[in-house]
Amino acid sequence: MSLKYSLIFALCLAAVALSNTERARYDNYRVYRVTASNLQELAFLKEMEDSSDALIFLEGVHSVDKDIDVVVAPHKVPDFLKALIDHNIDYVLLEQNLQSRLEDEDDTEIRGRAGAYGWQEYQTLTNTYTWLRSLTSSYPGVVRLIEGGKTYEKRSILGVKISYNNGAEKKPGIFLEAGIHAREWIAPATATYIINQLLTSEDAAIKDLFQNYDWYIFPHANPDGYVYTHTTDRLWRKTRQPHGTCYGADPNRNWDFHWNTVGASSNPCSETYAGPSAFSELEAKSLSNYIQTLEGKIDVYISFHSYSQYVLYPYGHTQELPDNVNDYERVFNVTVAAIAERYGTRYTGGNIYDAIYPAAGASVDWVYGNVGTRMSFCLELRPGPNSILTGFRLPAAQIIPTGEETLDGVVALVNEVKALGYFV
Ligand SMILES: *[C@@H]1O[C@H](CO)[C@@H](O)[C@H](O)[C@H]1NC(C)=O
Ligand SMILES: [Zn+2]
Repeated sequence: MSLKYSLIFALCLAAVALSNTERARYDNYRVYRVTASNLQELAFLKEMEDSSDALIFLEGVHSVDKDIDVVVAPHKVPDFLKALIDHNIDYVLLEQNLQSRLEDEDDTEIRGRAGAYGWQEYQTLTNTYTWLRSLTSSYPGVVRLIEGGKTYEKRSILGVKISYNNGAEKKPGIFLEAGIHAREWIAPATATYIINQLLTSEDAAIKDLFQNYDWYIFPHANPDGYVYTHTTDRLWRKTRQPHGTCYGADPNRNWDFHWNTVGASSNPCSETYAGPSAFSELEAKSLSNYIQTLEGKIDVYISFHSYSQYVLYPYGHTQELPDNVNDYERVFNVTVAAIAERYGTRYTGGNIYDAIYPAAGASVDWVYGNVGTRMSFCLELRPGPNSILTGFRLPAAQIIPTGEETLDGVVALVNEVKALGYFV
């Protein structure tokens, strides 16, 4: 082999090794808490969020006078701080080295091997898919596999339809979508917890939900992203389709409803990149196609995210309120009260635009606006706002308590929607 060819060969080997083993690291990444005291400062922070992939705004850029936590790459620290000072934006340093926090988790909190499926640890995609498949033989005629299409990396978006009594009678439909943002691990864990409770609980309120509704549940609306958070980058949020020099779009800014009008970025490297066009991401496109086939059958839609403990409803693209906002408010009130009852967990929320931030192109808005589902919610699960200590890495010991209180909320939500006459 000539020197030239052996060099190329060596380079190829290096590239292969890199693609198989390299994990994202956050050594010396700092976490700052910043506060905008007026709209100009807020707009500046929003511009930072939309333009740089050296900054990760952990819960997005909210409103004036609220704490905003941001991860800053080490090389970016001097300019980041200078920009804050130049714009009079207050800040405090919360964490010197994010990597040390990420290392607490890894092996102890993830169940990646075969074994009993459960909620003591976070599960891999493979484990959850195996478990979903096993349910069809454990509950024949009751649990059916459904597919919300494929992903960019050709995985299946797998879910279950749960229909008591073999779907003999027509029942109201409830659709649960989780995991559209990859790093929000508590969302799929909560969705699978609810599947299990629906099928096994002796509690009268849960049995009522199981027996009298058709359930369509997708624990992983973004499987490629979820796998990537296990193999490569725990803080990954988006899909994995390449766009220019960066990867992925935000699949919850990509739905074809007032797409990219506000609260989304046009920069492919941003965490909130809306994509080059509405439904450019196969995940959002194919799940929406599936939902469209259910037109008239979905009475309640709930999208699970984390974190901040919010119950949210349309719209995200405008301050204008949905025409049935009074009903939304009533359902919101009973849901928040029900979630608090068991462990005192405090939720807030409201219409997306005012309660958190303008954000166009989310699934809940598209569902509300396009398929006749009048009750469409987004739940941001534990932990509460500004929980940089746990954030997206909610300790696995909290999966079950989160599942319990969230299901309490879902029970109250569905019963209130029923009381309001939506299921007749
Ligand atoms: C919801 O609760 C709030 C606070 O208790 C109350 O002011 C509001 O009237 C309630 N809304 C509805 C529609 O029940
Ligand atoms: Zn989310």
